[in-house]
Parts: sequence; C-alpha cells; structure tokens
Amino acid sequence: MVAGSATGRPAGDANDEPEGTQAMSEVEVLEAVKPESSPATRGGPNLSATTAPRARVVARDVHVYYGETHALKGIDLDIHKNEVVSFIGPSGCGKSTFLRCINRMNDVIEGCRVTGEITLDGQDIYARELDVVQLRARVGMVFQKPNPFPKSIYDNVAYGPRIHGLAGSKDVLDGIVEGSLKRAGLWNEVKDRLKEPGTGLSGGQQQRLCIARAIAVNPEVILMDEPCSALDPIATARIEELIDELRENFTIVIVTHSMQQAARVSQRTAFFHLGNLVEWGETEQIFTMPNDERTQGYITGRFG
Ligand SMILES: Nc1ncnc2c1ncn2[C@@H]1O[C@H](COP(=O)(O)OP(=O)(O)O)[C@@H](O)[C@H]1O
Ligand SMILES: [Mg+2]
Repeated sequence: MVAGSATGRPAGDANDEPEGTQAMSEVEVLEAVKPESSPATRGGPNLSATTAPRARVVARDVHVYYGETHALKGIDLDIHKNEVVSFIGPSGCGKSTFLRCINRMNDVIEGCRVTGEITLDGQDIYARELDVVQLRARVGMVFQKPNPFPKSIYDNVAYGPRIHGLAGSKDVLDGIVEGSLKRAGLWNEVKDRLKEPGTGLSGGQQQRLCIARAIAVNPEVILMDEPCSALDPIATARIEELIDELRENFTIVIVTHSMQQAARVSQRTAFFHLGNLVEWGETEQIFTMPNDERTQGYITGRFG
C-alpha cells in the first residue's frame, strides 16, 4: 500500500517553526497527571474492563519519505476511541508528519511518499478506492495558527455540512451550526454576530471556530497540530478544557511541544525522536517512569 504525491503544501500548515521545550519538575508532573483520574487510586470500581477502549486508528510499519529524507521509520501505534493522545518530541522528529498520515494530508506534499498500513475502524485509509474528501471529514484537522475561512462565522461552520450534503434544509443547517458552536464552547460569544467575519474574532475564538468547523461534519477523529502555540494562557486553558469535553464524542490526537499540556489533556502519550516512535503509553507512566533513556532525557530537559 503506497500513497502518492501531488502538488503544493497543505494550506494553513505552519508547523515548521522552532519549538521550545520546557522541562517539568516532578511535582508539576504529578499534579498535572491528576492521580484522581485513575479509578484504582480513587477507590471506585475499576471500569477498565467494561469501558475498554477499542482501537480506532491502527498504524503498522508506517514510513514516510520526503524525497531522500526518511522522516518516519516504521511507526506502530494504536489510537483508541474516546481518548486524547499526545505526540511529543523534539522539533523535526516527525510528529506533524505522522499526524498528516492519519488524514492523508501528506498526499498533497510534492515528493512525499508513505508506506505501511493505517486503518480507521478497520478500513485501510490508503486503499485505492478510498474517497480522500470523505476521509478528511471523518478525520478533521486543526492547525497551529487558527485559519478561519474569509467568510462569516456561520458560513465557516456551515461549510463542511454544505459540501458533504449533511443538511437538507436551512433549519437543519442552523441546528448543526448552533450545535457545533456550542460544543466548541463559542456559541454564547458569537450567537448575536453569526454574519460577521470569522477572521474578526480573537485568536482563541478563531481556534474554537476552527474546532467548531471540524466537528460540524461529525468526524470520528480530530487531529490538532500544536493548536495552542499561537494563543495566550487563558485562551489555551479554554482549548484544553474543550479538548477534555470533546473526548466524550471524539478521538483526539494532539501534537504539543508543551509537556505540561500533554500531561494535562491526554490519557496516553507517544514520544517521537528522529523519526522513531520511541515509546508510548499511559501519560502518567511516560512522564514519571519512561522505559527509554531518550524519553527520560527529553522530559527532564536534557535535550529538546
Ligand atoms: N514538506 C516537507 N518537505 C520536506 N521535508 C519535510 C517536510 N515536512 C517535514 N519535513 C521533514 O521531515 C522531518 C519531520 O518533520 P515534522 O514532521 O515537521 O516534525 P515535527 O512536527 O516533529 O517538528 C524533518 O526532518 C522535516 O525537515
Ligand atoms: Mg510539527
């Protein structure tokens, strides 16, 4: 199974900027990973047997090449339903590249070649007959810089449902727009100005608008590539809260250069280094007892 290449770069992808890393103290890690979220330590029933998550995205032996550059080297990863997975690792290690494999955004990068297998709910997403437009509705994407269309707030959210024919009437479309803006935590701030341009909102509001736009087509998976790196701390906190709420309905994969953020929002974390997926597991375990010394080096700030 091989993905082809085409032309141009994906619009709105601006993830080649240098990333900082911040080492976490042990106390910060332990606070951020919220021990009360574990049924065992809470003393409640252990729900893991009944709520065992099922694999939604399964990647096997995924390699990505940009011309001669071997950017990803045999990635194996399962992403479960209703979980948030963080991708962490030094700049250039392949986090964005792997994220783009999951909705085939690498297809539009000239010279990019993907090999291996990725399935979504058991379906090979690189199958020849697969409709990539449909795939990108099932696997939505939110970028580092909020990139609302130069359209009204309403039309930004209505865009996907319109092109996918999800709304048979104006009333249904109105309902989808309202519901998506509510789920993105933006409705109360914009309900009286739906006809105003989306680009007139604040950065944090624009990012929530982009999230509303992604969820309007009812995706299964939402990919977020450093969604908060252009936002201030208050806007960041709102997005993090939102991510936690969205987990109920969606599978979320987030690339972040903030280990604090990974610890706060994700149940599982995958650490990438030089194109390898070094290790992945429960977020708490990755940040407190990593198995690999490269992970240890990264989380303690020895390299970034
Ligand atoms: N469009 C591209 N064309 C050529 N090389 C690229 C492209 N995008 C990424 N790369 C290369 O692939 C590697 C992984 O990059 P990337 O996935 O952006 O890393 P990260 O998101 O972890 O910072 C880097 O060596 C980078 O230079
Ligand atoms: Mg990146």
